[in-house]
Amino acid sequence: MPIPHRVIQLSKVALICAAMIPAAATAYGSHAAEDVVPSKVKAQCASCHGPTGDSPSGTVPRLNGQHRAYLIQRLKGFLDLTRQSPHARYVMWDVAANLTSERIDSLAAFYAAQSPTRNAPSGPLAAKGERLFHHGAPGVPACQQCHGPQGAGAVTTPRIAGQHAAYLNQALIDFSTQARVSATMNHPALRLTEGQIKELVAYLARG
Ligand code: HEC
Ligand code: HEC
Repeated sequence: MPIPHRVIQLSKVALICAAMIPAAATAYGSHAAEDVVPSKVKAQCASCHGPTGDSPSGTVPRLNGQHRAYLIQRLKGFLDLTRQSPHARYVMWDVAANLTSERIDSLAAFYAAQSPTRNAPSGPLAAKGERLFHHGAPGVPACQQCHGPQGAGAVTTPRIAGQHAAYLNQALIDFSTQARVSATMNHPALRLTEGQIKELVAYLARG
């Protein structure tokens, strides 16, 4: 049976379109790789964490120089409400729920590439905190075992040196009460006294 002329015309159009798709997809793909995070979303993060992640507020963590793998894990982790502190659930769940995996990768790479803030230890509390950080105490393991001798962390163990005092203090309380559930951190934080937390924060924090 002869194929009607119109069908041939349509299938020609379909072929031409199909031939154009790979080119269009490549062009879009390279554009998307440069900018998978809309400026609206970047501005949302910046409104709390600052333009480079060096947040101006003590209760909002610094992200500049934080490790990429840790940032990815944490941003995905915010979606599990049973493992997060009330503060994190209240603030970050909603934000993280609107991020695609591609955007998370891109944001994590951006913050990881920013230079980290250094800690500013001072006074007798900081000297005690430094000892505790390096040597531990009865029931408290040495933090440097995992976070490294300078508190710089690596991969999925976060940089904690140079973080804000208020945020570090709250994070350690959240781990010790298991308001923030972590297979790795709940144990080290469990036996920390309020005084030891103050010492560690005096050694590790800046601002
Ligand atoms: C309304 C303010 C606000 C906005 C907007 C916001 N954050 Fe946060 N973010 C916070 C606070 C507060 C915390 C600390 C939560 C807690 O107590 O654990 C946090 C925690 C985080 C953490 C965990 C850091 C760590 O050291 O564990 C990451 C990563 C993060 N935010 C990334 C982002 C990204 C990316 C965006 C934008 C898509 C964003 N945030 C938008 C306030 C905000
Ligand atoms: C066995 C390894 C290990 C030891 C020991 C350890 N940490 Fe951690 N720490 C981790 C890991 C891994 C995380 C990330 C946990 C998570 O998000 O679930 C973490 C997270 C943290 C955070 C949260 C950082 C953030 O940006 O939210 C703080 C603060 C912290 N640790 C402080 C300490 C201190 C202080 C000590 C010593 C008393 C210590 N850690 C001992 C592995 C360890």
